[in-house]
Amino acid sequence: MCGIVGYVGDQNATPIVLNGLRRLEYRGYDSAGIAVLSNGNVEVRREAGKLSKLESLVQNQPIQGTIGIGHTRWATHGEPTARNAHPHIGNTGKVVVVHNGIVENYLELKADLEAEGVEFHTETDTEVIVHLIEQFLSQEEPLEEAVRKALKYLKGAHGIVVLSTMAPDTIIAARIGNAGGVVIGLGDGENFIASDIPAILDHTRRMLFLESHQMAVVSKSSIQIQSLDGKKVHLEEHNIGWDPIAAEKGEYRHFMQKEIHEQVRSLTDTLAGRVDFDDGRIHLPQLNLSPELAGRIKKIILTACGTAAHAGMVGKILLERIARIPAQLEIASEFRYEDPIVDSDTVVLAISQSGETADTLAAMEEGRKRGAVLWSIVNAIGSQAMRVADGYISMQSGPEIGVASTKAFSAPLVDLYMLAVLLADLRGVINERQRHQLVSDLRLVPDLVGKCLDREKDVLQAAREMRYIRNILYLGRGIQMPIAHEGALKLKEISYIHAESYPAGEMKHGPIALIDRDMPVLALAPRDQWYEKMISQIEQARARGGNVIVVATEGDQRAAELADHVFWVPETPWLLSPVVTVIPLQMFAYHIAALKGLDVDQPRNLAKSVTVE
Ligand code: AGP
Repeated sequence: MCGIVGYVGDQNATPIVLNGLRRLEYRGYDSAGIAVLSNGNVEVRREAGKLSKLESLVQNQPIQGTIGIGHTRWATHGEPTARNAHPHIGNTGKVVVVHNGIVENYLELKADLEAEGVEFHTETDTEVIVHLIEQFLSQEEPLEEAVRKALKYLKGAHGIVVLSTMAPDTIIAARIGNAGGVVIGLGDGENFIASDIPAILDHTRRMLFLESHQMAVVSKSSIQIQSLDGKKVHLEEHNIGWDPIAAEKGEYRHFMQKEIHEQVRSLTDTLAGRVDFDDGRIHLPQLNLSPELAGRIKKIILTACGTAAHAGMVGKILLERIARIPAQLEIASEFRYEDPIVDSDTVVLAISQSGETADTLAAMEEGRKRGAVLWSIVNAIGSQAMRVADGYISMQSGPEIGVASTKAFSAPLVDLYMLAVLLADLRGVINERQRHQLVSDLRLVPDLVGKCLDREKDVLQAAREMRYIRNILYLGRGIQMPIAHEGALKLKEISYIHAESYPAGEMKHGPIALIDRDMPVLALAPRDQWYEKMISQIEQARARGGNVIVVATEGDQRAAELADHVFWVPETPWLLSPVVTVIPLQMFAYHIAALKGLDVDQPRNLAKSVTVE
């Protein structure tokens, strides 16, 4: 999610906007820009990289004015370059826009606009917005009407702020859906706009929060709120007491908890613009996957580290079960030394939130050297793992601040599922009915995850009772085995408790000797094809006095009778169930670490991106 700041008043807008953007630095970004109305012109400065780069540019090429907007970008479409940075200016030079969200239908809008002779200059989806506004302005519409009409064409969730010489005393802000907030700050003879409270908290604590399908027309002395169909709206004024950093986390104590709860939104975003539920098809244009390539792939080697490797383990199952392509997960730090069997019909698919993990990049290089097709699933657009790949899928999850990865684990699970369905379709291994069913199941995911998040109090109760444990065993089978690994890693890395994960079927070959009253067990036992086997495993653990937590499907009384604690999850198609069963495990690890008073967001010895070997 990108950062937005706007100012209109009697002061110089430039420092206010730049300082506001700095307050949003926590969100993570890869480029930034500012636009100010100065002497009847729109002056724009944009720079890739950190905010300090933009500040130096503005220092060398100053801009002054009493009305301005700024933006920090987390790229989803188009590399993080100065050219792709916001604000985006139209061809008349009179309108400039900053945007948060994804224009899901930007390709068709761009084609229509180009057919009308509109010239494009960037790779972004956002650029279509400014050209649409200009189209309506050219029909003598006042600015707010032109904005309102343009917004009606956009699909997806958006936060948009518009500045124009056609209305030099006014900033227009609008919100559609939930692409981050649009906050209006009320000043004395001046007003502010931001995507998040921290950006303007230094100037005012009086805030209005735009709701979806609302627009604000803001001048230094007035604020008019209206619905997108033009009706006046009254918004309640809020007085904010938070300090800036606390404000960035919103109502959450840690970024990790915020990111766990962002998964309904981040999973919606990773689906955005890629699933056509009507014709039951998947679109992954950045993968550059031709039917010819799809037909000749003989093997897919997934490679990654840590949490991303656990996503790759699920990906192996999805690719084999849905697309019937041989797939294997190779831990990147091992793969790079294996002298792997790879040729031009092999795909090496790297998964990486940061896109900068040294072992993963080295594994990709191994694949490249042996002639493999390179793909990557990344969250950081413009990262090395994206740039060196022949094709990529962006997680579109927004910046992940907490070192312990959560939303950047669940998003690739869905991305891998979409990839498997697309490959199966292109290779003709599923029929139309199967394809429609697989695609329509995707629609359930955000809501099913939301149901798990609603059960946080059950997980907190278990965390309270078990926070002093020193060891725990996570057991799973089949597609839940990678989730056992992921749950154990989450607990290890933020609570420093020894958590081991094991294939449940393997317990009888030795590890069951571990189980006694001091060795609690967490068993993943949703109603799937391994359910009965898991139940007998749980019975064996109980027989040895072990304390048992069970992840069970809602209503499963049999599991409940065997468990000391139950983490209920909703009934879910089994190929998508890992996205759901991981949620309580993320919350369990989080609450234990938080209850122990540990540094949840920056655990000892760890870094968010391991860019060294
Ligand atoms: C996950 O909680 C850890 N922080 C770590 O295992 C991480 O997943 C791993 O270092 C890979 O990082 P990447 O996804 O940025 O490549």
